[in-house]
Amino acid sequence: MNRITQLFNIKYPIIQGGMIWNSGYKLASAVSNSGGLGLIGAGSMYPDVLREHIQKCKWATDKPFGVNIPMLYPNIEEIIQIIIEEGVKIVFTSAGNPKTWTSFLKEKGIIVVHVVSSSKFALKAQEAGVHAVVAEGFEAGGHNGREETTTLTLIPMVKENISIPLIAAGGIATGRGMLAAMILGADGVQMGSRFAASIESSAHDNFKKTIVETREGDTQLTLKELAPVRLIKNKFYNDVQELYTKCPSKEDLENLLGKRRAKRGMFEGDLIEGELEIGQIAGLIHNIQPVDVIVKEIIAEFELAKSDISRI
Ligand SMILES: Cc1cc2nc3c(=O)[nH]c(=O)nc-3n(C[C@H](O)[C@H](O)[C@H](O)COP(=O)(O)O)c2cc1C
Repeated sequence: MNRITQLFNIKYPIIQGGMIWNSGYKLASAVSNSGGLGLIGAGSMYPDVLREHIQKCKWATDKPFGVNIPMLYPNIEEIIQIIIEEGVKIVFTSAGNPKTWTSFLKEKGIIVVHVVSSSKFALKAQEAGVHAVVAEGFEAGGHNGREETTTLTLIPMVKENISIPLIAAGGIATGRGMLAAMILGADGVQMGSRFAASIESSAHDNFKKTIVETREGDTQLTLKELAPVRLIKNKFYNDVQELYTKCPSKEDLENLLGKRRAKRGMFEGDLIEGELEIGQIAGLIHNIQPVDVIVKEIIAEFELAKSDISRI
């Protein structure tokens, strides 16, 4: 037992990060059933779709699970209402101010965790009263901080600044990575990319196959003027880079991005025009596997690495 397994009442301190277009109830319940904590990604769901996923998740697992709410999307009030009505016990908020909802959710008996990318925001989250913080490094898939602080440097710095439980994210996909993050001071880890390439992920097969084919250097953080996001370098990414050579305004970038790019890429499998969000660690993901195999593999490698540490 450690502070994270205790907080969530789970077997392993492994959290599956909420991921738009990837983490519906199938993925979240599979992770929870395997001993980790699964999170439904509310960011790509209309409120009624989210309600359906929560209900199906409750049916698919009797273990704890949660919902991730990126606060940059619309309908937040409606989403919070559904979470309360459906009796969700754990909420991870991201991409916004932790002060906005933390007290309200805590009053309803909900465990609140906030995702940050710097020590400064980790402290703010602690001050806002969250139960734990996810510190996410620059390597991570999806939206990310502007400062480019890597997980290796971020975790010990956040650890130095906060006293509440700390979850490391960004660049962790294996048991060795998990052990390394915990040695740096994390109480648990959040993984996204590894679970995006699982059987239970709701992403399109084209996207999952692309994750497996992605090599070192194939992703890049871009669109910092809007919301910084790490993307696979496909045609859409190249179009963005070409636009940058013309000193675009924020509006030009918004126009190129348009709407539905992420859905088109990850959910509909358009590898050319779609937005393909994945972390640097995709270079270490070689198979699309069922979640229970992924979790077992991670834990076995974690235990082996722990016992092997004397070699250092
Ligand atoms: C495809 C994809 C979608 C993501 N969507 C979200 C999201 O909706 N909300 C969020 O807080 N984080 C999101 N993330 C970040 C993950 O929750 C997680 O913190 C991150 O993937 C960890 O880094 P890793 O990819 O190196 O494992 C996303 C990541 C990926 C790969």
